[in-house]
Amino acid sequence: MRLDKFLAETGVGSRKEAKQLLKKSLVSVNNKIVKDGKTQIDESKDIITFAGEQLSYQKFYYYMLHKPQGVISATEDKRDQTVIDLLQDQDFREDLFPVGRLDKDTEGLLLLTNDGQLAHQLLSPKKHVDKEYFAKIQGIVTEEDVRHFASGFALTNGEQVKPSKLTIVSLDEENELSEIQLIIQEGKFHQVKRMFEAVDKKVVYLKRLRMGSLWLDEELTLGDYRVLSESELENLKVSK
Ligand code: URA
Repeated sequence: MRLDKFLAETGVGSRKEAKQLLKKSLVSVNNKIVKDGKTQIDESKDIITFAGEQLSYQKFYYYMLHKPQGVISATEDKRDQTVIDLLQDQDFREDLFPVGRLDKDTEGLLLLTNDGQLAHQLLSPKKHVDKEYFAKIQGIVTEEDVRHFASGFALTNGEQVKPSKLTIVSLDEENELSEIQLIIQEGKFHQVKRMFEAVDKKVVYLKRLRMGSLWLDEELTLGDYRVLSESELENLKVSK
């Protein structure tokens, strides 16, 4: 890659600023001062220093976000706050995006990255990656619903959903409320909400707990995020 691009990507400054810094002989490649930003470097081998400090290059970034309600799963929006707006200035990058969408009123696990290949692998319907949710449901979820979900069924618009694993966590007969966990391997628009609509019930609270091998870190408070650990990332890359 070009040296000025490398300097911009490692946070030294914009390409324009990098040009000035190069002119001031502040940048060296393999111990030689280089002044031309167009110089091609190999970011995996060459040793680049700025003002005597070695720069390390990171191509991909991975953050686990505990998405709160009221924030949309987009990179920018004129009206609403986006999940990218939750990043602190030092973590913001133009190329970060959320892996898939959670509805505005859904909470929970959302991965933010600039790794398009991993995102594709996690979202592709062909890869059957689990998405696990916790939900509060208006209505009493029954064993019949569990069997219905296990065999796959048609939504109210006729769209077919694949078999999923529904677990009843608790039932409050008096208030007609159920708590459930659900594992699906698809990501259709409003899928969980529409699955319960199809059995005449209503999702009143929804939270994503897991995507593939990656569990939401419950230590993260709503709106907080952290870098994925190396093992979380490795496991996610082979996620099923
Ligand atoms: N299913 C939904 O209905 N909403 C979400 O946000 C995620 C899954």
